[in-house]
Amino acid sequence: MEQVTRGNFGSKLGAILAAAGSAIGLGNVWRFPYETGANGGGAFLVLYLCCVLIIGVPLMVAEFAVGRRSRTNGYRAFPTLGAKGAWKYVGFLCVLTGWLILCYYGVVQGWTIEYVVQAGMNGLAGKTPADYAADFTNFVSDPVKPLLYLFLSMGLTLGVILMGVQKGIERASKVLMPMLFVFIVVLVGCSVTLPGASDGIKFLLLPDFSKVTPATFLAAMGQAFFSLSIGMGCLCTYASYFPKEANLFGNALNIAGIDTMIAILSGLIIFPAAYAVGIEPGAGPSLVFITLPNVFYQAFGQWPWLAYAFSLMFYLLLAMAALTSAISLLEPPTLWIHEEFHIRRRYAAPIATAICVLVGIACSLSMGVWDGYKIGGMNLFDFFDFTTAKILLPLGGLLTALFVGWKMDKKALLSEISNERVLPQTLIRIYYALIRVVLPLAIIAIFLNELGLFGF
Ligand code: PFF
Repeated sequence: MEQVTRGNFGSKLGAILAAAGSAIGLGNVWRFPYETGANGGGAFLVLYLCCVLIIGVPLMVAEFAVGRRSRTNGYRAFPTLGAKGAWKYVGFLCVLTGWLILCYYGVVQGWTIEYVVQAGMNGLAGKTPADYAADFTNFVSDPVKPLLYLFLSMGLTLGVILMGVQKGIERASKVLMPMLFVFIVVLVGCSVTLPGASDGIKFLLLPDFSKVTPATFLAAMGQAFFSLSIGMGCLCTYASYFPKEANLFGNALNIAGIDTMIAILSGLIIFPAAYAVGIEPGAGPSLVFITLPNVFYQAFGQWPWLAYAFSLMFYLLLAMAALTSAISLLEPPTLWIHEEFHIRRRYAAPIATAICVLVGIACSLSMGVWDGYKIGGMNLFDFFDFTTAKILLPLGGLLTALFVGWKMDKKALLSEISNERVLPQTLIRIYYALIRVVLPLAIIAIFLNELGLFGF
């Protein structure tokens, strides 16, 4: 039994970078370009920006307010703020969702490390498109190799968490986030100057609204949720470490802004390079691991050293982005175990990690030797992805919005989001209208669509 000790972010910048580190991840570099490609390019981008602003930012502010007001773990936050009955478990649902997401996020994080190693050893050079596809499939279905990378990725994540809030999470974010930004800018520079790249830039930036369907709108909302790390207890947990003077609206706008910028810049790496070599932008989930190495080595065919540097930098970037997000997924269950069971952080973190690794092993094997075991027609990996991202995530977001809008003490909420100052009435009215009515309705719409009930 251990006296519970709470960490805090040491600076406002550290707090912003850590939350930005959570938001920026595989969702930006891999999922955003793929969704944009599949949903018609620029028009998707416009809708995505609307969703981030109208749904993402208010919900982020709500999670921040819950976390900082309660200054406790994601589960305890809700009862501390007066949640009764079933509402008490909303936070637990969010913590659990993040924990489950980490089980397969850690597996993909491991793949990114394998691709860093491959790129570093020049193992991606001199292959045909068929080789890239076969290599990827062989790797993910191997019974041993992806597991070793899973251990490595979870070990790295655990290492950062064990170093604590300031020395681990904050320091890692302060180093990795600026590095990531520099890498991205260099990669965009290389990509947009390729011959034929302008079509890719047009695809991303020129909206063609004739391609918009209700499904595009709903896809944009789903992407905003995943990318901003909403509905999973991460933002709420991080906000419990925020300094008192941190401006929650300002932070939410900054983080959403940085996250969106990184997503657009990732698009500006991928689409110009893909168009330059005539590859379909909507290639799907394999885009990053199969299509991109092919793009790099074709695009820079005459300069193999540039293809080498480009691919190594890209996969390093992906691995770093995945690491800062994985950290934010491991922190909520760690804090929950630490505070609820009075177990020291140094034991709580390995317990949370061990559970992820065990489930992660099953997820990883389900891509190969255990492929035959299906739940609802899906292998375990896809099942986890489906239930967490498509069911639990919108549910957590919806319940958080309803709790904050209808159940949480209005005075407490307003004093949190205004930092004890008086906000203009119009702003308060707009915020309440969004959080009480617009957001819940919008989320219900995504939810029903994801379950296929609208048939879009
Ligand atoms: N937002 C991260 C990404 O874009 O990859 C993924 C993520 C991290 C989702 C943390 C949820 C979360 F709580």
